[in-house]
Amino acid sequence: MSVVADTVNASAGEDAWKSVRDQYPAQEPLLNLNNAAVSPPPLAVEQTVIDAYRFISRNPDYNMWSKLDTALPSIKHELAELIDCSPDEIALNRNSSEGLSTAIFGIPLEKGDQVIISDWDYPSVREGWFQRSQREGIEVVNCAFDLLDHDDDVVEAYVQAMTPRSRVLQLTHIYHWNGRVLPIKRLCDIARERNIVTIVDGAQTFAQMPVSFRELGCDFFITSLHKWLGAPVGNGMLIVNLRRIDRTWPLLAPFDKPAIGIDKFDHWNLGTYNSAIQSGIAPAIQLHKEIGAGKMHARLRELSRYWIDLARNITGFRLHTPIDANELGGISLFSIDGMDMRRLESDLREKYRVHVKYRKVMDIEGLRVSPHVYMMKSDLDIFVSALRDALATSAVQPAL
Ligand SMILES: Cc1ncc(COP(=O)(O)O)c(C=O)c1O
Repeated sequence: MSVVADTVNASAGEDAWKSVRDQYPAQEPLLNLNNAAVSPPPLAVEQTVIDAYRFISRNPDYNMWSKLDTALPSIKHELAELIDCSPDEIALNRNSSEGLSTAIFGIPLEKGDQVIISDWDYPSVREGWFQRSQREGIEVVNCAFDLLDHDDDVVEAYVQAMTPRSRVLQLTHIYHWNGRVLPIKRLCDIARERNIVTIVDGAQTFAQMPVSFRELGCDFFITSLHKWLGAPVGNGMLIVNLRRIDRTWPLLAPFDKPAIGIDKFDHWNLGTYNSAIQSGIAPAIQLHKEIGAGKMHARLRELSRYWIDLARNITGFRLHTPIDANELGGISLFSIDGMDMRRLESDLREKYRVHVKYRKVMDIEGLRVSPHVYMMKSDLDIFVSALRDALATSAVQPAL
């Protein structure tokens, strides 16, 4: 067993997590509190990709597709173990956006069929469905609820939105706006009873917390591997339930005919692609397994609660994330009453070198804070002290 696993198991203290931090490149010049967008790859991942690039240059065609790509089946096996599905249900691609579009445009639907989405789904997901609506006359039904509503109310809102014409339920596992987790299993169970196909946008859940595809019971699960897993930028995973594969169109015309099984969704249908990017998935899985998804989730929750406790008595501090939820992980959103949040974001970055992310959806606006497991509580001390200073020096103008 590695140093990381030994240390993280031995103690829950800060010192234990220092061994994890040592596996990552230093984040500079900014304190990186926007890991929900893309996380830095661990050093071993970075090195593997650099080596793979060099290897490729020596004999590109042969070294990429006859050498590096021989590792892909075992990578799929490992991913399948992590997320509890069959390797034959996994397609590797570039990111969640690609996987989501594959599902959105690949499910056969007819004019008048209904698809249920919500205000909080990822913008390009909503646009994808609106495009299908314009092109094919399918009906998009918006399920309305509040981002902080109780799970029971959210489930009830979706049930109310369902009709005999409902064909697809589009769900988001964690909202990237504020880190709220949806009761996906309950919703998928209900959808299955009604023969409604389920698409789960898990861009932010896989590797941030334990996720079981089988347990969720969805038809499609989509994620990015460059977020919480720490694979190189440009890696994603689409999982299609075996019972759905034959009935779903691929986004890109496949090279092989007939297109058999999950392969028709894989990245090689893009045409020429870069195998060095996928070679970094295996070392990312390795580190993730050494830490363990459960421990990662617990640590991310601890870090979120830590900074929120430090900041909650700031005048006007408002949290838009359910901090007491068991599912809370590494994403939360806050605002300061009466303050211009865009300006606060830029002041924190320009004057204090702290990078958090301005997010606005519907009438909710604030700064998203997303630490990762390579961060320490001392990083969050720096962030909250910068926040207090930025507010105290009134560098931030009141909102208009
Ligand atoms: C919920 C959600 N869905 C989809 C995406 C798109 O992910 P990517 O940019 O990796 O395609 C994101 C990215 O932040 C996200 O948070």
